[in-house]
Amino acid sequence: ITVDPSSAKGAKIDDMMYGVFFEDINRAADGGLYAELVQNRSFEYSTADNGSYTPLTSWTVGGTAQVVDDSGRLNERNRNYLSLGAGSTVTNAGYNTGVRVEQGKTYDFSVWARAQGGTTLTVTLKDTAGTLATARQVAVKGGWAQYKATFTATRTSNRGRLAVASTNAAALDMVSLFPRDTYKNQPNGLRKDLAEKIAALKPGFVRFPGGCLVNTGSMEDYSEASGWQRKRSYQWKDTVGPVEERATNANFWGYNQSYGLGYYEYFRLSEDIGAMPLPVVPALVTGCGQNKATDDGALLERHIQDTLDLIEFANGPATSTWGKVRARMGHPKPFHLTHIEVGNEENLPKEFFARFQQFRAAVEAKYPDVTVISNSGPDDAGSTFDTAWQLNREAKVDMVDEHYYNSPNWFLQNNDRYDSYDRNGPKVFLGEYASQGNAWKNGLSEAAFMTGLERNADVVKLASYAPLLANEDYVQWRPDMIWFNNRASWNSANYEVQKLFMTNVGDRVVPSKATTTPNVSGPITGAVGLSTWATSAAYDDVKVTSADGSTLLSDDFSGDASKWTGSGRGSWSIQDGSYVQTDAATENTMVTAGDPAWKDYDLHVKATKKSGK
Ligand code: AHR
Repeated sequence: ITVDPSSAKGAKIDDMMYGVFFEDINRAADGGLYAELVQNRSFEYSTADNGSYTPLTSWTVGGTAQVVDDSGRLNERNRNYLSLGAGSTVTNAGYNTGVRVEQGKTYDFSVWARAQGGTTLTVTLKDTAGTLATARQVAVKGGWAQYKATFTATRTSNRGRLAVASTNAAALDMVSLFPRDTYKNQPNGLRKDLAEKIAALKPGFVRFPGGCLVNTGSMEDYSEASGWQRKRSYQWKDTVGPVEERATNANFWGYNQSYGLGYYEYFRLSEDIGAMPLPVVPALVTGCGQNKATDDGALLERHIQDTLDLIEFANGPATSTWGKVRARMGHPKPFHLTHIEVGNEENLPKEFFARFQQFRAAVEAKYPDVTVISNSGPDDAGSTFDTAWQLNREAKVDMVDEHYYNSPNWFLQNNDRYDSYDRNGPKVFLGEYASQGNAWKNGLSEAAFMTGLERNADVVKLASYAPLLANEDYVQWRPDMIWFNNRASWNSANYEVQKLFMTNVGDRVVPSKATTTPNVSGPITGAVGLSTWATSAAYDDVKVTSADGSTLLSDDFSGDASKWTGSGRGSWSIQDGSYVQTDAATENTMVTAGDPAWKDYDLHVKATKKSGK
């Protein structure tokens, strides 16, 4: 490679070029980045969110209790509450294996309660081995009010349970337990280890809250007029204000979203990590397989107004209507929003673009300094992508979002993708991309591809890997950048690549010339196709050893081939199509992979073929 450092012809690289894309997928919010430890805290889980849910999901009742939706409710947006009988107890199981508490750390309990005749609530934290903190008693009397208590954990446990017992009949709602130790000690804050991993990337921007999460579902708001619409699209106004007044909703990815982590918290996170906030609003067309365009003019007007209101919420003075809401939540100063995206991965380019233009005109008229980002649809759609780009080019749109998820070889072979992009056309926001896997070869292929993004930094202005987070027990999408459960989090190879680029953003591209071109035509080899033989009845006596010769796993395959464990370091198992290695002593997951065929280990496999097969 020849490098000419005296040449100043290379593109300027913006400091904010590399960012992160946060979507509430794989339970990235509740049970993830949002530090709340109680699952289904307001008894709002519903079969509309997920067929297996009831309002008592994650709760067990000792005695009598029922979830009620009547005029005695906490408020119109938080409709269910628990009517707990005298002498009864409810216990919450948290997320994953339970409520995680660490010895010596402080936990803030709160509950909204009502007991006309008065009652005493006894709140305990325990696991099967016993008490995890000194029990607290809370005296409740009269109508709805919030009560608080503080715990200090006397022992560490991943399997805690939070129990609330009541001497007399009581109504309960918003039963909450938060670690005091949140990221930057913010109230209603973020889980520290996850937020720190995101912050360590030094992202230039945070795209939020989705993804398909945004442009699907009914576009109606949460109101009686809409029949208390549950599968409504993600709308920012649902997610701000006091947490007990944020109506929960069905999440596109098949669970419930409490909106405890909402727009205010996303803006605050962006500010706390020094990143530009980049919200995505629905465009009144539903993509992600739904392919419907809404023709309701009044609804479109409302969404356009909501978008203007969002900019006021972010940037307006504390005296403005929406700036006042922000100020009341604790942030009188503006959040400095400069970019906003309308729509996500739209499959109907013409319908999308007609609506996009109306959003764009309204925003540009009121906020000429805000960049309105458009869409190009899914890249694999061919003509959809081309049509969308043509429309965006003709209308001289500032920036267009592209998404693609492809094989590692595709990323190697398409390093030159942006070399031929029109230098006078819209800039590119690569809002979502990943090679299909979390193995080293995936990270490597993404790194190679990113050199092409950087070389074209005059065209590619923003880029973010996707998705960002995955709770290993609730996975809808693989691969993901950061993995976690209720007690630990760990980085993928892809994370390390992103971190390398994001923490070393250059000022300017220095032109270079390669004298030979690496051969990228063949597949990258080295993946152990564990899934193939793990489910095969063709082999006996399978043994997996690591490079140093130690046995990681062995099995004679005489038992159930779909659920087997082996010996070696910790235990190995195949669960629901996932390949997981757990450390036997700590229970921490060491390695996880969704599709074993994509996992790349330095392993050696020895198997004896069964005779006659
Ligand atoms: O990143 C996961 C999903 O991929 C996003 O929700 C969507 O935009 C894309 O299809």
